[in-house]
Amino acid sequence: MDYGEGDAITKHDWTQWLDERAAAGLIRRLTVAGSPQGPRMRIDGRERLAFCSNDYLGLANDPRLAAAMHAGIDRYGVGAGSAHLINGHFESHDRLEVELADWLGVEDARLFSTGYMANLGVVGALVGRGDTVIADRLNHASLIDAVQLSGARLSRYRHNDLADLEARLERASGERMILTDGVFSMDGDVAPLAELVELAERFDAWLIVDEAHAFGVLGQTGRGSFEAAGLVPGERVLRVGTLGKAFGTAGAFVAGGAEPLEVLLQRARTYLFTTAQPPAVAEASRAALAIVRDEAW
Ligand SMILES: Cc1ncc(COP(=O)(O)O)c(C=O)c1O
Repeated sequence: MDYGEGDAITKHDWTQWLDERAAAGLIRRLTVAGSPQGPRMRIDGRERLAFCSNDYLGLANDPRLAAAMHAGIDRYGVGAGSAHLINGHFESHDRLEVELADWLGVEDARLFSTGYMANLGVVGALVGRGDTVIADRLNHASLIDAVQLSGARLSRYRHNDLADLEARLERASGERMILTDGVFSMDGDVAPLAELVELAERFDAWLIVDEAHAFGVLGQTGRGSFEAAGLVPGERVLRVGTLGKAFGTAGAFVAGGAEPLEVLLQRARTYLFTTAQPPAVAEASRAALAIVRDEAW
């Protein structure tokens, strides 16, 4: 029995499935952290060296962020209480969006509660049935799920293979969207951005770049893949950033032109139908952004 991810199965024998996974050494196990994120952590009650987190700048336990979060709790309380479009959009969210857009030199930014949800939101809001999303084979799982949920046709090109991408763009019908990680989450290699921009322009396609592992890390001042490649994104480019990695907090954002971001506000289901992230988390993210801006080294 092989219930691979996404396999259609008629009857689930989960006991057998779990036994087989265990026998193959494929059971996933949680470890329990008993200290803050950092190079040395207490894991399952023992001191360990940690090499595996995405806390690239060591901000997850930075006292400046902690102080900002405490101040945010004092001012706004703990929970957002509702979705952004009801009454859960706080001053801290609003300021963070403006500051992120300003940092990246784009017209607008929209906050989401996680990167997974930002990816689902941006793809589902802009394309649907009859459209084609051409996606790198090694994209993050959330980007694959995003296309499947959107109803658009998913066409996956070989990893960073521009000839394969171009052929698929030629064959595509409806609205075209190119979807790629900026820095790939498994291998850490980067997308050929200049060529992707050229292809997107030639085929009048959206180009969505997931900068989860690039913002705060790549480029002279941490502004991600485009800065590293010496490129300025055009109006059909949207970038997704996550706040749970280099920024050390939680949540995510989409940054780009005013019109597509207005479309996200109106249509992105993972924006509309979920509780906003706690406003104090946005305060901590603002402190993280200030550090990323001021301490580019
Ligand atoms: C490339 C990429 N995109 C999106 C995500 C999802 O972000 P989040 O953890 O904020 O849901 C991750 C990992 O978490 C990722 O590695």
